[in-house]
Amino acid sequence: MTVTRGRAAIIDSATKRVQAMYGSAVGRKRQELVTPALVLDVDALQRNLDRMAARIAELPAGIRPHIKVHKSPEISRRQMAAGALGLCTATVWEAMVMFEAGIDDLFVANTIAGPDKIRALAELARDAKVRVAVDDASNADALSKAALAAGSTLGIMIEVDTGMDRAGVDDGDAALKLAQHIARLPNLRFDGLTGYEGHCSLTPERDLRLEKQRAAMALFTGVADRLIAAGIEVRVLSAGGTGTWEWTAAHPRLTEVQAGTYAVMDMFHGHMSPGFEHSLTVQATVISKPHGHIIVDAGNKSMGAGGLATIVGYPYESFRFDEEHGIFNAPTESPLKVGDSVALVPGYSPGTVNWYDAYHVVKDDVVLDIWPVVPRGPGHNGLLAG
Ligand SMILES: Cc1ncc(COP(=O)(O)O)c(C=O)c1O
Repeated sequence: MTVTRGRAAIIDSATKRVQAMYGSAVGRKRQELVTPALVLDVDALQRNLDRMAARIAELPAGIRPHIKVHKSPEISRRQMAAGALGLCTATVWEAMVMFEAGIDDLFVANTIAGPDKIRALAELARDAKVRVAVDDASNADALSKAALAAGSTLGIMIEVDTGMDRAGVDDGDAALKLAQHIARLPNLRFDGLTGYEGHCSLTPERDLRLEKQRAAMALFTGVADRLIAAGIEVRVLSAGGTGTWEWTAAHPRLTEVQAGTYAVMDMFHGHMSPGFEHSLTVQATVISKPHGHIIVDAGNKSMGAGGLATIVGYPYESFRFDEEHGIFNAPTESPLKVGDSVALVPGYSPGTVNWYDAYHVVKDDVVLDIWPVVPRGPGHNGLLAG
């Protein structure tokens, strides 16, 4: 297998494909869409990006938005135009697509294994500034070998587990050992540390969340100090999500925050970052109104974390999400009736967007454009050929 050259085609062909499939919706009101449909309010999106840009300009860190949330070249370009330092991606394929969207400063904020993915990453680094998270010496060896073969240099960010119990080294000693190993490997450049404190977002109470965020950053900067004391330069300290971004960006040592959901928002993050609007919704149709419930045609094959979803304008709580049924508790006297079109705020945006080929981009609730979701799903979307 070889990495396809001339990949720019992936964005063009995805755009043409979704515009051919859904273009007839342009000019329609959102309530007239075939449902379920992913709907993006372009003005609300832009206000979110502008708000982040204005606020972060006053703080020590910059923003490197995580684009796994939206998987949209157009939103990424707007984030860059709003002053982003570069982008975070979750996958190599997202990084490849965003490079083709014209963005050449890319941090794959996950550890990456497997020969095809590593080679694709190393080849991408020939043309773009590419960083990747690492927490394992043998993985660093594989990255170095691939970068040597590709004739590129990969930027390495040692991942630190700041409390999430996910990937990452646990302490300064482990980070130092790994950094010293990396320093001996050709075609790798040690750039810094990454320490997304995602566990804090599971804590709705503000004060407790702040306490956890502080503990996470104390651990994180402590690891940096261990490396610095050993004579290793740590240029980048990257962390932060939508639930903690303002505190993390205000930390004097942090250089960038990785928040992503702020652009589109969802119910999971809404209460933690109240300044941002729900620019992303799923339009759905009421398909049944049994006693005590309203059922819409967007189930858990259309929505991430349906249990947290809400119906815009109605105070109904989610009862259960089946594959094609989104079931909400609603009184019999609810004005909603079978056939009504409603907007749902997703429980979790990244897990919602990933189901869809396209955004119906609306302005004042009328569809103005169709934008592709690319790369959609977990696959390589044809970015590897052969
Ligand atoms: C490594 C990493 N950084 C940043 C983020 C962005 O977080 P959020 O979507 O809450 O802004 C995530 C989200 O899962 C992540 O996994």
